[in-house]
Amino acid sequence: MQEALHHFETPFYAYDLQTLRSRLTQMQQAFPSAEIFYAMKANPRLGILRRLLEWDVFLEAVSLGEVHRAYRAGFKKTEVLLNGPVKTPAILQELAEIGVPILGLDSLADTQRVSQLLPGSRVLLRVNPDLPIATHDHLATGRGESKFGIMPDDVEKVLAAARRGNLEVLGLHVHLGSALSHLEDYHAGYAVMEQLYRQHGPFQVLNLGGGFGLDLDPASLAPSAIALAERLGAELWLEPGRYLVAEAGVLVSKIWGTKHTRRNFMLLDAGMMTLLRPMLYAAEHPVIPLYKGKKMQVWDLAGPVCESGDILARDVQLPTPKEGDALAILQAGAYGSSMSSNYLDYPRPLEILWNGLEWEVLRRKQSWEALFADEI
Ligand SMILES: Cc1ncc(COP(=O)(O)O)c(C=O)c1O
Repeated sequence: MQEALHHFETPFYAYDLQTLRSRLTQMQQAFPSAEIFYAMKANPRLGILRRLLEWDVFLEAVSLGEVHRAYRAGFKKTEVLLNGPVKTPAILQELAEIGVPILGLDSLADTQRVSQLLPGSRVLLRVNPDLPIATHDHLATGRGESKFGIMPDDVEKVLAAARRGNLEVLGLHVHLGSALSHLEDYHAGYAVMEQLYRQHGPFQVLNLGGGFGLDLDPASLAPSAIALAERLGAELWLEPGRYLVAEAGVLVSKIWGTKHTRRNFMLLDAGMMTLLRPMLYAAEHPVIPLYKGKKMQVWDLAGPVCESGDILARDVQLPTPKEGDALAILQAGAYGSSMSSNYLDYPRPLEILWNGLEWEVLRRKQSWEALFADEI
């Protein structure tokens, strides 16, 4: 890392291929019979997707752009599942041109539009299991209040519309939420799916989504998921995102000063434009210093953006830094770069991958030309 700091300008994302590989191995060993559709929204760098393709992983996309990216990385349309709550006619027409992936349908409207514009598609229906999922409100997609999925009582109606509309229904899908750590939530979700399969099945596929929190051991969940798929005679599909990539990436930032108001601040060159999760979900990321210093103090890490909420971490114990010292914000491989923005015309940061031998550049720091390219 010191070598990378020497060569590259901060802030940057640094990933480790070996960690990615071992997280995937853990998941594959826990679920040997499952088809893994990596939720590419967690980290869509082509350099990462191509590795996953080599390792026999498929992709879960949630936008037309992600489908384009998946195809560009080399995935076939049968290896990509497109979910998401809104699929406009323009999106469906473009899919017809570039290749229609497997489609996750989220509502009756979605189903009717797809059967009209893309008849014959292979689809899954996403269920909202209406459960009190324990996670941040913005991440609890399986709650009845969420915008996602078809309520259990409506499944029959939507299923009939899909079948009438000549869609090939592969099965049902549930994604309970993200950053989940309670096994009971999964078990409750599985029970809802079992009931729906008994009522409306059999189906070829059972898609149990992603959401695995970093502290959740997939091996503890696997027996019940695998047994359920076996009981239902369906192929098990999973859509992990965070679990595979979060620990494989850090955001490296330099400290350009300290400041004392009623709190102690370190002033960083990374902020909400490079890591939105603390602001969006009050997410907490561990932080480690890449410098030595004697006096330990409690710090808030402030980004450079002109927003009071631009704080990457609060109450972190760190040694007093010198100007230009660096630190690493951990667990930033998921939803870090993918949620980064050009707010205030900050260019998107450099992203590098340690492949065991050298640092590979996965994405250059965005140039000023690229930043302004689309403006007239
Ligand atoms: C439908 C769907 N599947 C899978 C995921 C991946 O979730 P996670 O990264 O928490 O595993 C998401 C995340 O939002 C999602 O919406």
